[in-house]
Amino acid sequence: AATLGSAAAAKGRTFGAAVANGHLGESAYTTTLDREFTGITPENEMKWDATEPSRGSFRFGAADAIVSHAQGHGQKVRGHTLVWHAQLPGWVSGIGSGSELLAAMRNHIAGVAGHYRGKIAYWDVVNEAFNEDGTRRPSVFQQRIGNSYIEEAFRAARAADGSAKLCYNDYNTDNQNAKSNGVYNMVRDFKARGVPIDCVGFQAHLSAGQNLSTLQANLQRFAALGVDVNITELDVGGSGSAQANTYGQVVRACLAVSRCTSITTWGVTDKYSWRSGSTPLLFDGNYARKPAYTAVLQAF
Ligand code: XIL
Repeated sequence: AATLGSAAAAKGRTFGAAVANGHLGESAYTTTLDREFTGITPENEMKWDATEPSRGSFRFGAADAIVSHAQGHGQKVRGHTLVWHAQLPGWVSGIGSGSELLAAMRNHIAGVAGHYRGKIAYWDVVNEAFNEDGTRRPSVFQQRIGNSYIEEAFRAARAADGSAKLCYNDYNTDNQNAKSNGVYNMVRDFKARGVPIDCVGFQAHLSAGQNLSTLQANLQRFAALGVDVNITELDVGGSGSAQANTYGQVVRACLAVSRCTSITTWGVTDKYSWRSGSTPLLFDGNYARKPAYTAVLQAF
């Protein structure tokens, strides 16, 4: 196949990129985006600080522009993200009472997921809720509401949008380890109790040459719980053939798991990567295809 998107489509998958609204006016950026990618995740525009900067007043302009771009180019949208400890406005962390914070969280989810109802393929409902040892991260939500905040978020998201697949998303969960065990146990419990969860996102912020020996088995064990699995924020620090090999490994692991339905890189071009001083993506700063690009195409 001639592009990432068509190669992925031939295997029934989506190949996406994180997109910043501020770059959509750059023709080289959108040319590459629309030629190669069949999915889009807004990089920052759907986060709480962007969508509800002050309590009860919602702003959707930047995110709407991305969704409209995606719809115009046949790209699936991954909503990112409804509940996260970072990029959270001060008014949220300032709520001292658990019941009040729960009400604010439900209202936020209803407002944002409701605004995009029917337009989102996958929602990252809760992001990065676990510590490396598999215990819960002590976010303001965890501290004030307790363990139940995650299932409350999923229930609120389902009520707001009955068609989006609802995902839990995290990093350093790619392999089987203490952190992914913690997430796995939560998903198993949610499935057993009927909490509406449909998918798990694996961010896959990686380094070239990193040991990924349990990635495929890890994706498979989650899929066996009855959820889709997605590679959601892939980027690989490094360069050249080492970087290319790691990209290829990730694609092969995903393809080996039938419920691994999408791979998304966290950006289009190295020049705008969030990992500053690094070149972790598939296109260089001039939008030239890198060895990693070729490795991804070959892996499909
Ligand atoms: C990053 C963005 O890429 C940056 O532009 C922003 O300054 C910080 O957030 N995990 C996530 C993403 O889930 O939302 C983060 O995105 C990268 C790490």
